[in-house]
Amino acid sequence: MNVFETLLPACAKVVVAKDWMWNTPVFQEEEAFIERAVEKRRREFRASRHSAHEALSVFEHNDFRLLPGGGRAPQWPAGIVGAVTHTGQFCAVAIAAAQECRGLGIDAEQNSPLSDELKQMICTPSEQAWVTEQEAAGKLWVSKLIFSAKESVHKVYYPLNQYTLDFLDAELVIDLAACSFHARILKPVVNASVPIHSLKGRFFVDDQLVYSAIFYANEPI
Ligand SMILES: CC(C)(COP(=O)(O)OP(=O)(O)OC[C@H]1O[C@@H](n2cnc3c(N)ncnc32)[C@H](O)[C@@H]1OP(=O)(O)O)[C@@H](O)C(=O)NCCC(=O)NCCS
Repeated sequence: MNVFETLLPACAKVVVAKDWMWNTPVFQEEEAFIERAVEKRRREFRASRHSAHEALSVFEHNDFRLLPGGGRAPQWPAGIVGAVTHTGQFCAVAIAAAQECRGLGIDAEQNSPLSDELKQMICTPSEQAWVTEQEAAGKLWVSKLIFSAKESVHKVYYPLNQYTLDFLDAELVIDLAACSFHARILKPVVNASVPIHSLKGRFFVDDQLVYSAIFYANEPI
């Protein structure tokens, strides 16, 4: 099982990019988006598209061209929700049927602390106090966990509302023992298409990466 499979319900299909996916060109319509991109961006885009194609084929969406839309959010086929993440040599895609899931967010980040400057941009005062406490106890990755969880929030929130929350518009409470988090949306968009007050997610940390995932279910699961 890959990490995101352990963080998401079984109805989600997760694909972690295989080595060949990073270098092999994708559909022409997709390649058009990376024509002038630097090598790093070409590699991650190809890895994410090949992974998405494999995941989509499980839902019988074959040969679907996964193009970026507004705000860079991928435009999934009707009836599918999903998310993409890539960092370093790791890329993953998770998708689910919209009947079961309103929104999916996954994110992976390098396991290293945020700089002090970034901590202030990403973390609310109460999150900063919690980070300081946890870092003193040796958990140097907790600031990156807050960053990753907020990226997962963004990947759920944006496609439903076409709105980019600021990092300080959400506040997290993290349960380290349960490997879970609760994100409260402090400043939602006015007249939200899908009002969201809070989102629950799960996380995992290994030597290399910090992973977070949110499955925003249609019904409690
Ligand atoms: C765009 C952004 C989410 C990328 O995050 P990242 O950690 O640097 O990169 P990741 O590899 O994990 O994710 C990139 C993928 O996110 C997806 N993504 C980008 N914008 C998105 C959006 N608006 N909605 C949903 N998914 C989006 C894309 O699939 C992208 O990969 P692709 O371009 O190859 O398709 C991030 O840079 C950003 O702009 N964040 C600001 C908003 C935010 O996070 N607010 C906090 C709210 S609490």
